[in-house]
Amino acid sequence: MKIQGPIGVFDSGYGGLTVLKELTKQLPDHDFIYFGDNARAPYGNRSFDVVYEFTLEAVKFLFNQGCPLVILACNTASAKALRTIQQKDLPLMAPNNRVLGVIRPSAEVLGELTKSGHVGVIGTTGTIASDSYPIELHKFAPNTEVHQHACPIWVPLIENQLHLHSAGRQFIQEDIALLMAKNKAIDTILLACTHYPVLHAQIEALVGPGVNVIPQGPIVAKKLKAYLQAHPEMEARLSKKADLAFFSSESTAVFNEKAAYFLGREVTAKHHSF
Ligand code: DGL
Repeated sequence: MKIQGPIGVFDSGYGGLTVLKELTKQLPDHDFIYFGDNARAPYGNRSFDVVYEFTLEAVKFLFNQGCPLVILACNTASAKALRTIQQKDLPLMAPNNRVLGVIRPSAEVLGELTKSGHVGVIGTTGTIASDSYPIELHKFAPNTEVHQHACPIWVPLIENQLHLHSAGRQFIQEDIALLMAKNKAIDTILLACTHYPVLHAQIEALVGPGVNVIPQGPIVAKKLKAYLQAHPEMEARLSKKADLAFFSSESTAVFNEKAAYFLGREVTAKHHSF
């Protein structure tokens, strides 16, 4: 019998938990290991080389934990490290393993969600500066216009739970106003950072009912399920005991408390640092 292992889910911090939550809904029997590099988060303002180096370390760690498949549940890592890992590292390191990101699955559906053809994309500085969304989206929906806005303060606000305080609300309101000012026809906003779903209701209230605010978790989970149906050789390598394990590079006490907020359930993490 083949050795089976969990699906690895990686984020710089807590945001990937919003993706993990949806993955466990779509794939309830599968085992997952989550790794949050909380000690080195946020990644959003870091250089290409540093994000690549940190992400590769995380992928190696999850492979060593027995994961045949790793999801980069982080747009910044998907934008800055995924392609190099897939093309350069994976063939040498673990040619039968797979690393997938969150940008491509989101870009595949975004064009179908807009009626006006004008989509807003908000994310970290790294994700927005990479232009990954317009590049990917135009492969599937060449006539869709993408209006991007970077929100560099949002991840620190969310990680420190300051997004509900008045100063935090002010930053969020200003960023949304700047995005919406780019084009009046924007009818769809993609939350292109896995931390942002905690602001979903807040953003919906700011933009009103005419604008669709889209979190990535459900899209990524649905696409992963379809991927596993199309790749039975990978599906056969995945263990299914409905186990969830957590690792953080920060103190586990801090991680457990904050992760429970993102995931909506109790979390007991182990520590791992590089
Ligand atoms: N959740 C990550 C993302 O989707 C946050 C990046 C960060 O650490 O700044 O981009």
